[in-house]
Amino acid sequence: MAVNLKSTDKRTKYCGEFRPADIGKRVCAMGWVQRQRDLGSLIFIDLRDRTGIVQLAFDTDTDKSVFDTAFGIRAEYVICAHGVVRQRGEGAVNPNLPTGEIEIAVEEIKILSAAETAPFEIVENSNVRSELRLKYRYLDLRRPDIMRNILERSKISNLTRRFFEENGFVDIETPNLIKPTPEGARDYLVPSRVHKGNFYALPQSPQIYKQLLMLSGFDRYFQIARCFRDEDLRADRQPEFTQIDLEMSFVTRDDILEMVERYLQFLFKEYKGIDLQIPLTRMTYAEAMERFGSDKPDLRFGMELRDLTDIARGCSFKVFAGAVEAGGSVRGINVKGGAGLSRKEIDSLTDYVKTYRAKGLAWYKLNNGEISSSYAKFLSDDENAAIGAKLGLEEGDLLLIVAAEKPQVVFDSLGALRCEVARRLNLIKKNEYKLLWVVEFPLFEYSEEEGRYVSTHHPFTMPMEEDMDLLDSDPGKVRSIAYDIVINGTEAGGGSMRIHRPEVQAKMFECLGISKEDADRKFGFLVDAYRYGAPPHGGLAFGLDRLVTLMLGLDDIRDVIAFPKVQNASELMTGAPAPGEASALSELGICLAEGVVPEEL
Ligand code: AMO
Repeated sequence: MAVNLKSTDKRTKYCGEFRPADIGKRVCAMGWVQRQRDLGSLIFIDLRDRTGIVQLAFDTDTDKSVFDTAFGIRAEYVICAHGVVRQRGEGAVNPNLPTGEIEIAVEEIKILSAAETAPFEIVENSNVRSELRLKYRYLDLRRPDIMRNILERSKISNLTRRFFEENGFVDIETPNLIKPTPEGARDYLVPSRVHKGNFYALPQSPQIYKQLLMLSGFDRYFQIARCFRDEDLRADRQPEFTQIDLEMSFVTRDDILEMVERYLQFLFKEYKGIDLQIPLTRMTYAEAMERFGSDKPDLRFGMELRDLTDIARGCSFKVFAGAVEAGGSVRGINVKGGAGLSRKEIDSLTDYVKTYRAKGLAWYKLNNGEISSSYAKFLSDDENAAIGAKLGLEEGDLLLIVAAEKPQVVFDSLGALRCEVARRLNLIKKNEYKLLWVVEFPLFEYSEEEGRYVSTHHPFTMPMEEDMDLLDSDPGKVRSIAYDIVINGTEAGGGSMRIHRPEVQAKMFECLGISKEDADRKFGFLVDAYRYGAPPHGGLAFGLDRLVTLMLGLDDIRDVIAFPKVQNASELMTGAPAPGEASALSELGICLAEGVVPEEL
């Protein structure tokens, strides 16, 4: 029967912390039973907590009632054991376990809680399907690998707090029930009971508040902030996630980049023991696109893009020439030593680029002096030679080329293909970190959907001084003082200098097609605030979940979040979201539109 703890039941230390130095000591250990082994006159129990496992031993010297209790104990029971630490018997030492030289000879045992058979075994690297794991996340979190991730995340947050506090940043909480923020994603709305028909938004980030804190004079702000975005989920995206958010006053862009570099240097040193060389590479957006087809280039491998447009112009291969004629481009990559790839493998890469709107993938192999290609026969020898020269073709190589009428399609598909090929050919070294800044992003993107320019970052991002004149004449060409920090091909963080001059902000709204009335309605308080004295300021936010995923060398952001959501934004354990109770909806003045029946999750 399960019992409560008494005041004399005090844990001596965590299970994983017992060592030979404890031999001879009377100790108390508590935890979950990993497994019980009954060898007749001997019983062993592996007792587990967040630090590891210690072995409890019961033998012929053990009091009979204690031995009998141990006999009935099953996996995942929670127990408290008092006993004496002793050296393990010869041949029983486990060199793989930090506690493997000792065991506790138990004198007294208490069952604190019995346990039914768990739906899956609580072991490291289990291959249980993720739906089941997430349904029983509290059990999944007992698994040492997932538990370790969450403990490591806590260390990274603590180091982060330490760095920013030591550097004079003030930790300030900003509200979670707010007016919609003007970031790109959809807001989560929360109905107001008091003001029926009105809604709060959950913050996509603390952006506006941190800018206002600069206007108030806090000068250096940071917060580990929860953010909410109703967007489609991917392996590196969750609807609620955490940012390491910061903002600084009286600074230029480079002051911010330097501070962030110092933070990363500190984190890599303290956490990974890696000496990060700073300053980090700074690459313009234009260069990143041109060389890597991506604004978050993975620098751990080569395979850079080369522009073949000039060679393709007017050639007799319609796919190439037609794309150029229509204002597009032709670009390619060289997969060094890739000539061994089969037709089937190349076909699968073709299917892959099609998901990025490319119509096809042209290829050229040089294998043992023999050429095979999807396009070579349509081109002259000179043209083929020029393409080969541009891409550095050598024996054993595979050239992959995309032509498209929209240059963006060429960049997107080759940028993604480059990474996919590197993954498939195992070109990516684990435990290597390549960091860089991508700077000078375009201020605006043209939205085909809305038929107007929209902010690439957000409407408070400062345009580059040298491009101010283009705001009227050629807004698509204006670059912004925005920057992303990219780690191993992932956007770990992003930020910008903000507009602190009201006349520039007014111009910005004009370029975005936001009327004065609309600007007043949406951001009137902010525009007003800038009339009362604003220091030049800027900042950045890291995605903490992404940063932890990267630091731990993992692929899925869900592995570093205690209670993550799945692809369809639901939480499998609690079953959120759930239908609103009729009484709650009526109190909020909300009724479902006709025909809407809450979906069963
Ligand atoms: P941004 O929108 O670039 O900038 O976000 C900053 C960082 O947050 C992380 N991130 C996410 N992580 C997990 N799931 C998501 N759905 C998700 N969305 C974003 C990314 C990203 O780099 N207010 C600005 C920052 C600033 O200008 O200071 C902002 O939120 O790692």
